[in-house]
Amino acid sequence: MILALETSCDDTCAAVVTQAGELRSNRIASQGVLHERYGGVVPEIASRRHLELIEAITADALEVAEAKLDEVEAVAVTVGPGLIGALLVGVSFAKGLAAARGLPLAACDHLHGHVVAGTLGPHPIQTPYLCLVASGGHTFLARVEDPARYEILGQTLDDAAGEAFDKGARLLGLGYPGGPEVDRLAHAGDPRAFDLPRSAPGDGLDFSFSGLKTALLHRVRDLGETAARERSADLAASYQRAVVDALAARTAAALAAEGLERLAIGGGVAANSELRARLQTVCDEHGARLWAPPIELCTDNAAMIAAAARFTEPMPYPTYLSLDAAARPRRASSA
Ligand code: KG4
Ligand code: ZN
Repeated sequence: MILALETSCDDTCAAVVTQAGELRSNRIASQGVLHERYGGVVPEIASRRHLELIEAITADALEVAEAKLDEVEAVAVTVGPGLIGALLVGVSFAKGLAAARGLPLAACDHLHGHVVAGTLGPHPIQTPYLCLVASGGHTFLARVEDPARYEILGQTLDDAAGEAFDKGARLLGLGYPGGPEVDRLAHAGDPRAFDLPRSAPGDGLDFSFSGLKTALLHRVRDLGETAARERSADLAASYQRAVVDALAARTAAALAAEGLERLAIGGGVAANSELRARLQTVCDEHGARLWAPPIELCTDNAAMIAAAARFTEPMPYPTYLSLDAAARPRRASSA
């Protein structure tokens, strides 16, 4: 049994997963409400809250899994990328827990976790596959030949897709995080009401979302406060359609160029209802199969870190005692 911890941003997460990929528990203590009034995550507040929550969420994960600490064979933890102070809470706690029991520790990459979340559960995705990861901090397409690593085929050149949702939501006067709010409001709007740009930078598989956000800003300004409020559903639907179009176009191009027949999606934006439906259509058109994990495996969680741990060489006790967290990705193109 693997006990995994994830504290890279504002969710305190713990999970118990078997080496075979069976999900025994996946617990998340969201700090969303705490950061809402600031319109974004405040790193210092996130770290303090992780400290308050991590022990309880770990106990909770073990309880839900009906497992005892004695049964845990390995500890896994996110070492990066993420907020350094937040990461350090998880890393220190994991080190202490593992060292106290002489257990091995797997130092996992957060993005690798998003990439391999689809390998969990009763119907795991098989390699090779294409993976679209779209979260608040990252947006990329990766080819996975071996679940121990991934090759980045294209990525955002500026804002992440989740960041685009969050910034767009703020322009529309919606709460934080903005993705779910835009998703909800878009159901009541007309996605063709406003013509917004779909940027496709270069000839490859990269993304760009900063121009779209600026275009929305101009639309909102042109309409004026009252009209923009009255038409917020149309604006949300048009904006969401533009983000989904951009993500779907490059995903379709990657499936074709790479000759892949399986697509996995991950990251918070993979919870978006329109994106999920559109990627199903893209897969149908390409004769491919879509692995859209349940939403709690798409947004930040520790089960995906346990999934990554299954494909990460664990460090034996006591070599990990000097392990450090890293705010930035360890390597640009692989886990
Ligand atoms: O993966 P995640 O939980 O955390 C990061 O690693 O960033 O992703 C969070 C992001 C936020 O930007 C949030 O607005 C977005 O995912 N998100 C969504 C939806 N649910 C969460 N974006 C669009 N539609 C959603 N339903
Ligand atoms: Zn994430």
